[in-house]
Order: sequence, then structure tokens, then C-alpha cells
Amino acid sequence: MPLPYFQSSNKDFTLYQDDCLSALDNLQQPLNMVFADPPYFLSNDGLTVKNGKIQSVNKGQWDKFTTDDETYAFTYDWLAKTRDKMADNGTIWISGTHHNIFTLGRILPQLGFKILNVITWEKTNPPPNFSCRFFTHSTEFIIWARKHPKVPHYFNYKLMKQLNNDKQMKDVWRLPAIAKWEKSCGKHPTQKPLALLAQIILASTEKGDLILDPFTGSSTTGIAANVLERNFIGIDKESEFMKLSQDRYQDLQQEGRKQFFKEQFNRLLNKSM
Ligand SMILES: C[S@@+](CC[C@H](N)C(=O)[O-])C[C@H]1O[C@@H](n2cnc3c(N)ncnc32)[C@H](O)[C@@H]1O
Repeated sequence: MPLPYFQSSNKDFTLYQDDCLSALDNLQQPLNMVFADPPYFLSNDGLTVKNGKIQSVNKGQWDKFTTDDETYAFTYDWLAKTRDKMADNGTIWISGTHHNIFTLGRILPQLGFKILNVITWEKTNPPPNFSCRFFTHSTEFIIWARKHPKVPHYFNYKLMKQLNNDKQMKDVWRLPAIAKWEKSCGKHPTQKPLALLAQIILASTEKGDLILDPFTGSSTTGIAANVLERNFIGIDKESEFMKLSQDRYQDLQQEGRKQFFKEQFNRLLNKSM
């Protein structure tokens, strides 16, 4: 196994700077849960409006536009390698929009996964649509699938019900996009909100479980996992995101930070349904 970019002293938070296709070959321990926020390959030099200003849609080289065939082959490869490293009762969550969700929905059953849910994350504060030619985009989707059609997976049904005023939790979650308190160490261009990851982790893992994020970015998954006492491995190609992830981990170890994050999770998750 190559040396990690960073590993915490108790080994509960490990980062590898690598292409996930090669890093996945070297993983040893079975993964209880995977969260993946893969590139959507949307950086095509187009323009958009953000905060009232015209800006490029480009996120970085890692998101550069490729052909449909290349995207399909890449998606198939990383999902196949990830599945090999999952525990038999493990589950995977993959986030996306209409750009990649249909490709994912086709490949997952081909590889033997069973789709459990497609969660709709409704953003309570979406950016407005400036073209006024279609509806404001206010949702993202997260596919939840288990490794085997016939091997039961872990689901903390009771806790999810409790978080939802003692009613069964639905597959539509209402949560805001990332807030200022989540950017104290800097920001990734497609950073996910911590509360979203906290809900995913609480629903599908137990304390001490091992979680992988093969496209870790700023390691939102790892930060939520660390607050909730799960072990974490994150992989990303880019050194700037490794540094941001390590900074976020170190910030979290400061006195009072974990408690503050837990309070934010409680505040947001109790009104997310
Ligand atoms: C959509 S972002 C993930 C953002 C992350 N969820 C967060 O909250 O910060 C995708 C990440 O995948 C990384 N990436 C793209 N292709 C990769 C590959 N083949 N192997 C590893 N990382 C890759 C990019 O550098 C980028 O940081």
C-alpha cells in the first residue's frame, strides 16, 4: 500500500492523493459504506451567473468535459473496483444530477448492485435561474444501493424515524446548501453540506465502521464521519484538496469544535423532512 498523504495518529482519518482507479486496487479492509460525489464532466468553458455576476462554469481540470463513452467507461471502472472492496452487507451512496444519474442507474445493476432508494435532496436556498427559460434547479439526487441483491444491509430505521417527528422518513430531504460555518478552512468548488453527509452516515453505518470517499474533495464525508466516530479513507487526485481536507480535519480536533458541529447537525437534521 503506498504511503498516505495524511493519516491521523489513531488511524481514523486517512487521505491518499491518487487517481481512485489505482488507489482502490491497494485498499485492504472491507468497506462498510461508500459515499461518492464523482465529477459530472460539465466544465465545457460555458458561462453561468453566480451572486449576480457572470462566471465560468468550469470547476477544474478534474471536471473537464469528455465524451459519453469515456464517461460511461470511467463510471463502470470505478464502481466495479469499489464494489470489490465493499463488505458483503455494505452500501454505496452516489450523488448526481440529471447529467450523470441515468448512467449510474444503468451501470449499478449491471455490476450486481441493488438500488435501495433515490434520495432527492431539495435545497432550501437554491440559486435563482437567470435565463428565465426553465424552472430553477433546486434538487440533487443521491442513489443508495447495496452490494448484493440478497444480502441484507444496515439501516438505522429507528433513528431516521425519530429524526422525523416519529414518522417514517421519506426519500425527500430538505437541507440548505453549504453555509459559512462549513468554509472556515477554505472551500471546494462543489463542496457538499456536512448535514447531508451526517444524515447518510447515521442512516447506514454504526460507530467504528469504515467509510470510503473515492472523490473526497474537501472531505466533507470524512469530517462528518469523524464527528460521528466512524473511520474514514478519502482519495483525491489534487494536492490542493488534500491540503484542504487535512486542514479541515485538524480544525475539527480543536477544543469544542466537534460539539459545535454536532449541534449544527441536530439543528439541521431535525427540520430536514
Ligand atoms: C465533485 S468533487 C467532490 C467534492 C466533495 N464531495 C466535497 O464535499 O468537497 C469531485 C472530486 O473528485 C476528484 N477527482 C476527479 N477525478 C478523480 C479520480 N479519477 N480519482 C480521484 N479523484 C478524482 C476531483 O479532484 C474533485 O475534488
